[in-house]
Amino acid sequence: MKKSHCQCRWLPLFFATLLVSPLNSPSAAYVGIGGGVGVWIKGRLGTPEPPPPPPLDPSTSSADATAYSALQAWKSAITEDPSGILTTWVGPNICSYKGIFCSYPPPDDESQAISSTSPAVLAIDLNHANLSGTLAKELSLLTRLSILHLNSNRFTGTIPDSFQSLQYLSELDLSNNLLSGPFPSAALDVPNLIYLDLRFNSFSGEIPEELFEKSLDAVFLNNNQFKGEIPMSLWTSSASVINLANNKLSGSMPVSFGYTGSNVKEILFLNNKLTGCIPEAVGYLNDLQVLDLSFNSLTGPLPNSISCLSGIEVLNLGHNQLSGELSDLICDLRRLANLTVAYNFFSGFDQDCTKLFFGRNVGFDFSGNCIPGRDMQRPPPQCNGVPSGGLSCLRIPAPGAVACAAARIKGMPYPLPNSLTGSLP
Ligand SMILES: *[C@@H]1O[C@H](CO)[C@@H](O)[C@H](O)[C@H]1NC(C)=O
Ligand SMILES: *[C@@H]1O[C@H](CO)[C@@H](O)[C@H](O)[C@H]1NC(C)=O
Repeated sequence: MKKSHCQCRWLPLFFATLLVSPLNSPSAAYVGIGGGVGVWIKGRLGTPEPPPPPPLDPSTSSADATAYSALQAWKSAITEDPSGILTTWVGPNICSYKGIFCSYPPPDDESQAISSTSPAVLAIDLNHANLSGTLAKELSLLTRLSILHLNSNRFTGTIPDSFQSLQYLSELDLSNNLLSGPFPSAALDVPNLIYLDLRFNSFSGEIPEELFEKSLDAVFLNNNQFKGEIPMSLWTSSASVINLANNKLSGSMPVSFGYTGSNVKEILFLNNKLTGCIPEAVGYLNDLQVLDLSFNSLTGPLPNSISCLSGIEVLNLGHNQLSGELSDLICDLRRLANLTVAYNFFSGFDQDCTKLFFGRNVGFDFSGNCIPGRDMQRPPPQCNGVPSGGLSCLRIPAPGAVACAAARIKGMPYPLPNSLTGSLP
């Protein structure tokens, strides 16, 4: 899949202050995993970060017995360990175990169990360890755990319900495992989670409405077996990246009437079974940079509100059943670097769309449509039966310019494209 267009790089919360060298870089979660761009811009934590803890000598410090028994319980739930990582998991000095990262937790009045002067397990990083087994419920006894990175292992089962008591857990990366069952409700109940990565597993069933009501900053559910509709709460999500690609989601994208307040930068819904029209609400995602709805069965004309996506860089609508004319409202978007509308039923485009490839140097793929006088279009008989061509989309009766202005009035300042003065199709 394509590399991220964004220069932003995700920095983990605590690794900068941990002393022991990680088994694998935590950012490895972003490398080599397809199904969409994996950019996550951190930095919307509500509380200021604690001061860096004092240095810790893993050879002399000891963590408490509860943490020891939690890790030993998990060790016995691990059935295969081809790299022999767990051979280091012996003895009371758990802070020297491979993959376990201790530090002095920030002081917390609410925590009676651990004094602020004894080290605690703050992170577990066993990415690419190829471990088999299950996630032991006893892991929830690591009450200060903030980061759990287990990508590219062969864990089965699901997330134990006990995880909901991990009140400091902010990053949960279980991608590329063999986890299954319905959406793990424990992930909804972890109170302070901001990064949830479940991609490349075999989770199934519906995506719960509560998911997008959480204060998550990154939601990666791509490459699972999720089905059903995308929850309505999508439009209120606080996440900057939402990747639901390569699932079996169906139905229409949820409709939202009016400004949504979302700060999402990347939406990747490619390769599902979505039908119906692209809702107006898409245009109100002021910060959107990447929108990939390709390889679905979306129909109808594009909403004029797409012209409000003033920050959009990559817009991929290819391999759907969209129709109508591509308007200058879309082709004039300033930041556009790559516009793909290939394999739809578009019947033409406005003049400024021509400038995309003459002069503006924007990647513009419109092959496989019904555009007269252009190469690589569908054979005419196919264009006589445009799917759902007679149906109009349920749209707020406002032209694009008005829609953008309305969003702006509601408090999201951004410049209107200069061209928003012409007539509307
Ligand atoms: C993981 O372990 C299994 C079984 O031992 C082995 O077949 C597979 O090749 C390993 N994968 C990697 C990436 O090392
Ligand atoms: C544009 O996007 C499409 C689909 O995401 C991709 O296949 C293509 O390589 C991109 N083109 C450029 C020039 O980046």
